[in-house]
Parts: sequence; C-alpha cells; structure tokens
Amino acid sequence: MDYSGKVVVITGASSGIGAQSAEEFAKLGATVILVSRNEGQLQKIDTKLSKYQTETLVYACDVSDKDQVDKMGKTIIEKFGTIDVLVNNAGFGIYNTIEKTKIDEMESQMSTNFLGMMYCTKAFLPKMLKQRSGHIVNVASVAGSIGIPGMASYCASKFAMLGFSESLFHELKGTGVGVTVVSPIMVRTNFFNHESFGKMPRYSVTSLDPKTVANAVVKAASSPRLEIVVPQFVRFVIWLKQTFPYLINPIVGEIFRKSMKPKLD
Ligand SMILES: NC(=O)c1ccc[n+]([C@@H]2O[C@H](COP(=O)([O-])OP(=O)(O)OC[C@H]3O[C@@H](n4cnc5c(N)ncnc54)[C@H](OP(=O)(O)O)[C@@H]3O)[C@@H](O)[C@H]2O)c1
Repeated sequence: MDYSGKVVVITGASSGIGAQSAEEFAKLGATVILVSRNEGQLQKIDTKLSKYQTETLVYACDVSDKDQVDKMGKTIIEKFGTIDVLVNNAGFGIYNTIEKTKIDEMESQMSTNFLGMMYCTKAFLPKMLKQRSGHIVNVASVAGSIGIPGMASYCASKFAMLGFSESLFHELKGTGVGVTVVSPIMVRTNFFNHESFGKMPRYSVTSLDPKTVANAVVKAASSPRLEIVVPQFVRFVIWLKQTFPYLINPIVGEIFRKSMKPKLD
C-alpha cells in the first residue's frame, strides 16, 4: 500500500515495536510523527529514517499526561491538517506479585497503557470522524486476553484496551474510520529491560522479532478486523481458553507460575 501523503502518528516510537513500525511506514512513503518521552532517542530513530526521504517529526510527549497529549494532538493537526493513522503503542510492564507491587506502579501501567491510549484517541478521533477517514491501531498483547501471574496490572491495562477498542469498533461502523487491535505474544524489545523482570528468562524460543509485529501494525492500519493476533495460531489458544476456561486456565496458570518462582521465593 502506498502511504505517500498520509500522516501516521506512532506513540512509543523511540524503541522496539514502535520504532520498527515507524520504519515500515516510512518505507511506504508516509509522513511519520515519532512520539515518546525521550527526545534524544527519538532523534536517533529519526536519523535512521532519513534514508527513506519522507517527512518526519519528533514530538516529545508523555502519553499518560492528558494536557501534554491534548497539546500534541492540536499541534500535529494544525501542522499537517490531517491524521490518517494513529498507532497507540506506548506501554510498559512491571513483573511482580500483586502483593509486592506498589500502588503507584499499578497506577502508572494503567495511566500509560490504557489512559494514554484513551487520551490519544480523544485527541485525534474527532478529526478522523470529520474527514470520514482514518484508522486507529492499538497495540495490546495476548496478555489482554489471558491473565498472567506476575503481570496483573499490565494484563488489566491490556484487557481494558481490548474492551475499549471493541466498543469503539462498533461505534465507528459506517463512519469511514476504523480501529484494529494488534495482540502479539512475547517480542524481543527493551520491554524486558525493566528491573522487575530480574531473573525471569527475557525471551522464550517462540518470541517474535519486532519487525514481524511492525508488519502486523501496518496491516492493521487498513484492516476491517477488530483484532490481529500475532502469530495467528495463538488466536486458537485464546479461543480454547475462552471456550474451555475450567480446562485451560489451570494449565496456563501452572506454566506461568513456574517462571514466577524466583519472585515468590
Ligand atoms: N515486548 C513484548 O513482549 C510485548 C508483547 C506484547 C505487547 N507489547 C506491547 O508493545 C508496545 C511496545 O512495547 P515494546 O515491546 O516495543 O517495548 P519498548 O521497546 O520498551 O518500547 C516502549 C515504548 O513506549 C514508550 N513509552 C513508555 N512510556 C511512555 C509514556 N508514558 N509516554 C510516551 N511513551 C512512552 C517508550 O519510550 P520512552 O521511554 O522514550 O517514553 C518506548 O518507545 C507496548 O504497549 C507493550 O505493552 C510488547
């Protein structure tokens, strides 16, 4: 698909899935707006994108701060006059039991992963509806469908993202605007650099390359579907869990509790 002249805003673009998605959209000719808190890191990604000779903009913004997001939305719409794709990707996770996780750590995951997505949606959706075109891509996780021990607040933020997106999906019918959730399994990014992951094995043998997920993000930006699970076969695992919860939940719980052991000792 040709994205020439299209304006794509990506939150969490300073690393991992967001940075790779920025590159994939730049390759397709999109004007890419790179958003995260770390301006220096965004500049590095921006420099990498210069080879694609497309317009880019670095915008430092903490998505958990609604005033900053509101200002960002107004500035971008004023500068470019349009918004074609919003990728709500900024997010992080803290790995610990509920008992040992501090309340402000729980709140910060909800503020960035869920409220941040909501603030950005509120900042750009009215313009999309007015122009009767645009697509919102929300990067959730398989942890938005399966509760993982040690990641309660993270899972809650992604379950919330999925619920919000499903409601929005129905509301948007016939408006020319779409929303699609991308739900990957484990991805090899800086996500696991958070100190709380400590002794936990950082990646599994099945963990994904960020490029695989970035390709799914690009696909999602023109998809009529509500959710794209990456890899696709994991949708079957989610279906199994939702259809036979009494059978599948104890197995899933047991698998994850084993990797949780160092935290419990
Ligand atoms: N890695 C995985 O296994 C995995 C699996 C499923 C889903 N995901 C989801 O994929 C998304 C991207 O994560 P990743 O794996 O690419 O991790 P990552 O490499 O750590 O990237 C996270 C990005 O989010 C940004 N960010 C964090 N808090 C922010 C805030 N308050 N405001 C603005 N930007 C913020 C970070 O930039 P700054 O620090 O510069 O702000 C960074 O660019 C997340 O939503 C994550 O939940 C990841």
